[in-house]
Amino acid sequence: MSVTETNTFAQERGLRATREYANYIDGQWVKSRSGKAFENRNPANEDDLIGLFQDSTADDLNAAVDVAHKAYESWRLTPAPKRAEYLYRVGDILKRRKDEMAREMTREMGKVVDETKGDIQEAIDMAFLAAGEGRRLFGVTTPSELSNKFNMAVRMPLGVAGLITPWNFPMAIPAWKGMAALICGNTVVIKPASLTPLSVIMLTEAFEEAGLPAGVWNVVTGGGREVGEPMLKNPKIKVISFTGSTEVGRDISMACAPSFKHVHLEMGGKNVIMVMDDADVDLAVDGALWGAFGTTGQRCTAASRVVVHDKVYDQFVEKLAGRAKKLRVGNGLDAKVDMGPSVSASQLKTVEEYVKIGKDEGAQLVAGGNALRDGDAAKGYFHEPTVFAEVKADMRIAQEEIFGPVTAVIRCDSLEHAIEIGNGVKYGLSSSIYTRDVNKAFVAMRDMVTGIFYVNAPTIGAEVHLPFGGVKETGNGHREAGVAGIDVFTEWKSIYIDYSGNLQRAQIDTEL
Ligand code: UN1
Repeated sequence: MSVTETNTFAQERGLRATREYANYIDGQWVKSRSGKAFENRNPANEDDLIGLFQDSTADDLNAAVDVAHKAYESWRLTPAPKRAEYLYRVGDILKRRKDEMAREMTREMGKVVDETKGDIQEAIDMAFLAAGEGRRLFGVTTPSELSNKFNMAVRMPLGVAGLITPWNFPMAIPAWKGMAALICGNTVVIKPASLTPLSVIMLTEAFEEAGLPAGVWNVVTGGGREVGEPMLKNPKIKVISFTGSTEVGRDISMACAPSFKHVHLEMGGKNVIMVMDDADVDLAVDGALWGAFGTTGQRCTAASRVVVHDKVYDQFVEKLAGRAKKLRVGNGLDAKVDMGPSVSASQLKTVEEYVKIGKDEGAQLVAGGNALRDGDAAKGYFHEPTVFAEVKADMRIAQEEIFGPVTAVIRCDSLEHAIEIGNGVKYGLSSSIYTRDVNKAFVAMRDMVTGIFYVNAPTIGAEVHLPFGGVKETGNGHREAGVAGIDVFTEWKSIYIDYSGNLQRAQIDTEL
């Protein structure tokens, strides 16, 4: 397809015309020094070229960091409630542009429009949450052990924050990280995922329209090697916040260790829904369907395992498989579609590989199992919603993150058994239980080793005002969003003010 034809496709659907998008550095839209750009195509239709994006280099990244470093000097001194005013404006702009942006996000990422609207809503929620924090940023005051002395601890910004963001929540996650960083007084350089740079460009348009001072928010698009790695090495970046795979997270952690950069990592998941014999089975099926196939299964929080009590197992599997088969797969811009494509050809390949692994391991395929390659579907990366039954807890499809529309249903014979299976993976992001027994719910809440836990709801659907993140190989001890997000982007400074006029010696002059 030529660019003209692509533009006709876009025009007919009320989408942006193909164009070359620039980096955003020092409040200016600038091209990369490389003189090169990369393509971004619609995963539902690879003929649809969304745009060209800067194929940036380490020089571009370092220039953006220099600018952010300079802007930090005045941004950190801008009163936090004033910083908040920009974020309130961003929230309002995103609200106004939500529908239009959602269509573009669906076009570049694939998930259905209701879900891209939800993604933008998370960014709006985060803008307002962070803006409210501008009038709090609470520290602590304490008594002193000495007379006429005042103690407190306040939060200080870190400097330049380097954000490396994923493609599955292409605006929400940049907003979780970015809004928290900014309200605390840090400046930002962000490298969006190369599969979804437009979503971050759109967020940046909102910052620009809000009048955010130049240099406070900078975007450099490009590859991990060219842009991401130089971020880890740049001494002016004081904190890296990354969401992505555990493998890349480990590399980032190691690369940042020698310089003691703060590192916040959000990584893989193999989340579990546990369905007890007293559960409302239909409700649990609703939850498993949404948890497994929402965002085409491409959520860190996706319900990729369902552990079901023997007594309701057959009934549950039959209902889930029946519902999965009825889901309509297609272009997320089509209002009749329930599930969009995988984000890329390589992601689809991974899904197909795991379906094969599942079959080879002896799991029973009860729904889906195939990529869709007929007619128009051949132009996209579509795969049927897939359910495996009779999965054993140690099979690879029950242990490894697939990040696609595949879920594994495993048998259990008690709550304790479900918890043991649920915890028997290397990840610890999200888990859930369906039960009507409050005692069982509380035991599971206590014993599941995950950062997020739900009762009678699926593993997805976190809200921005609670900490988000996981344990084990999902995280490195930090959380984003909620109040915990503020911790990632601040350091404590403890302050002692002695107004006695005398030398007072702590721990010595306090002896009774
Ligand atoms: C992710 O998958 O990386 O709780 C984020 C949820 C969403 C965020 C998911 N609010 O599923």
